[in-house]
Amino acid sequence: GIDVTDLRRLTGYVAYDPGYANTGSCKSSITFVDGERGILRHRGYPIEQLAEKSSFIETAMLLIFGELPTTEERTAFRALLSEHELLHEDLLHHFDGFPPNGEPMAILSAVINSLGSYHPELLEILNLHEFRLAAAKLVSKVRTIAAFSYRKSRGLPFMYPNPDLSYCRNFLHMMFSMPNRPFEPLPQAVSALSLFLIVHADHEQNCSCSTVRMVGSTQANLFASVSSGICALWGRLHGGANAAVIEMLDNIRQGQYGVSDFLERVKKKECRLMGFGHRVYRNFDPRARVLKKAAHNLLMSTGITDPLLDIAQELEDAALADDYFQERRLYPNVDFYSGIILRALGIPVNMFPVMFAIGRMPGWIAHWFEEYRDPAIRLHRPRQIYTGPKQRDFLPMEQRL
Ligand code: ACO
Repeated sequence: GIDVTDLRRLTGYVAYDPGYANTGSCKSSITFVDGERGILRHRGYPIEQLAEKSSFIETAMLLIFGELPTTEERTAFRALLSEHELLHEDLLHHFDGFPPNGEPMAILSAVINSLGSYHPELLEILNLHEFRLAAAKLVSKVRTIAAFSYRKSRGLPFMYPNPDLSYCRNFLHMMFSMPNRPFEPLPQAVSALSLFLIVHADHEQNCSCSTVRMVGSTQANLFASVSSGICALWGRLHGGANAAVIEMLDNIRQGQYGVSDFLERVKKKECRLMGFGHRVYRNFDPRARVLKKAAHNLLMSTGITDPLLDIAQELEDAALADDYFQERRLYPNVDFYSGIILRALGIPVNMFPVMFAIGRMPGWIAHWFEEYRDPAIRLHRPRQIYTGPKQRDFLPMEQRL
C-alpha cells in the first residue's frame, strides 16, 4: 500500500475517473450515504427521523455546527436569523439590473456573491463566532433574496420579512403577501415546506457541494464559494431536475406522449426519465420515499388535486417494472416527487431550483467550513489524460488552409 503522504509526492501517475465516480476528494464527518442500501444520515441521524421530528433550522444547525441544538442554542440562532433577514437597501439595486423576467437562479447566485462585498469583515473568517454570523446571514438572507427574485420576476413590490414569523412562514409571507393583505398559509403547507427543505439540506459530495469545496480550496470566501454552488446546482442533471420532472409530467398530461411511449423514447436514449437515477443510489433514494409520502399527505389534507401525482405514480410503476430500469438499477431520486409539493404550495416552476438552493445552503456552509478547518486539505486540482496534437510548429497566416 501507498499511504496518502506518498501519494502527495507521487508524480506522473494519473487515475482516469471521469465524473469522479470512484474518487474520494476529502474526508468528511457531515453526511453518510450508503447507495446500495438506500441510507442517508446527517451527523449519524437518519433522514427519516429528521424529516419526521426536526425543523429545517434545527437540521441546518446540526449540519453546520455538528450537534442538534439545545433550546437555548436554537432560540439564540433563530434570533440571529431574524436579526439578519433584511438586505442592505443598496443591495436591492442589484435586482434592478436584471430584466423583468430574469431567471431567479441567476439573480440568486449573483446577489449571494455580491453579499460578500457588504460584509468585508466576514470575507476572511477566522473564528467560530465570525463563522456563526456568516452562516446565519446566509441561511437567513438566501430566503429573502429568493423571495425577492420571485417578486422581481413577477413585477411585484418586494415584501419585507416579518421577524415574528417562523423561517418557513416568513418565506411564504415574502413570496405571497400583498400590501395590506398578509398571506395566511395552511399549517400543512408550512410543515411541507419545512420538510422539503430538510430533505434537501445536504447530500455529501454531490456536484454543487463539490463545487463549493473546489472553490473553497483556493481559500475563496464563503459567499463566493456558495454562490458557485448555486450555479452548479442550476443544471437539469442536478438541482434543475425538479423543474424538468414537472415539465415531463405535464407533457404527458397534455397528451404529447403516453407513459409507455415516453419510456420507449427513454430506452432509445432520445431523452432521460427525469427524477430517476443517481450516481450513488442503486436503490430507492430515501429522500424520494419521504417526499412521495409527504406529497400524498399534503394533497389529501388540503383537498388539492394534482393530476401530475397520478402520472408520476404511473410512470414510476411502469419504469420499476421494466428491464431497462431494473438492469441499470434506476429508481426515483429526490427530484421525482418534490415538484408536486412545490406546485401545491403555489411555487412557480422556475423557482424550483431556487427552493433546492435554500434547502442546500446549510450543507454547502457546513462543507465549506469543514474544508476550511481541515489541515490536510489541498488546492483541488484534478489531472487529465491529454488527447490533443503532439508538438507542432506555428504556421504563419498565409500558410494556413
Ligand atoms: N433515464 C434513463 N436512463 C438513465 C437515467 C435516466 N434518468 N439515468 C441513467 N440512465 C442510464 C444511462 O443512459 C446509462 O445507460 P447505459 O449504461 O446504457 O449507457 C446508465 O443508466 C448509467 O447512467 P450514467 O449516466 O452513467 O449515470 P450517472 O451516474 O452518470 O448519472 C444522473 C446520474 C445524472 C443523476 C442520471 O441518472 C440522470 O441523468 N438522471 C436524470 C436527471 C436527474 O434526475 N437528476 C437529479 C439527480 S439527484 C440530484 O442531483 C439532486
